[in-house]
Amino acid sequence: MSDILIRSMTAADWTPVESIYREGIDTGNATFETDPPTWQVFDARKLALGRLVAENAAGAVIGWVAASPVSSRKVYRGVVEHSVYVANQAQGHGVGAALLDSFLRAADGAGVWTVQSSIFPDNPASLALHERAGFRRVGHRERIALMTYGPWTGQWRDTILVERRRSS
Ligand SMILES: CC(C)(COP(=O)(O)OP(=O)(O)OC[C@H]1O[C@@H](n2cnc3c(N)ncnc32)[C@H](O)[C@@H]1OP(=O)(O)O)[C@@H](O)C(=O)NCCC(=O)NCCS
Repeated sequence: MSDILIRSMTAADWTPVESIYREGIDTGNATFETDPPTWQVFDARKLALGRLVAENAAGAVIGWVAASPVSSRKVYRGVVEHSVYVANQAQGHGVGAALLDSFLRAADGAGVWTVQSSIFPDNPASLALHERAGFRRVGHRERIALMTYGPWTGQWRDTILVERRRSS
């Protein structure tokens, strides 16, 4: 998609960001979260680095990306875990790829060496998006989560851990 703008996320973007987050949660195949956090919690958990939104030509926010540190241990300071979400009606037009590319450029520039994410095997769009961006599958984690809510209650779920290691 050529007419999208990728820019930093601000507190004023929270209403559309939260709504896009909720659409992803509702798929049951994006995250184990059951509800979006408040802006205050999101703001505290997510790094300022690579916290971006995608805006369409009409100025509407149609996607976002953000990351958290994986550990407080200093040796892991260059390792982050990210999330990327695109509004249902905007999917399949390159918005996720544009967000992820911008995020990875920001991460590379800030000295991040490993970016990781856990993806459900039932999320082919996310698997394709990440493989296209150079992520490799580290492992398939079988029966890692026993669900306590939603349509999967009582069932085990697998995740696929993917990572992108900066080359230098
Ligand atoms: C995953 C998600 C972010 C992808 O964003 P998107 O804007 O739809 O993806 P893009 O249009 O940029 O496509 C990126 C690549 O994935 C591929 N792809 C997109 N949807 C796909 C699908 N349903 N099945 C297979 N491949 C798909 C595209 O073909 C493209 O690859 P290409 O460049 O080689 O053609 C989006 O589907 C989404 O927000 N889903 C709900 C939330 C979620 O699951 N987030 C990820 C949590 S791990």
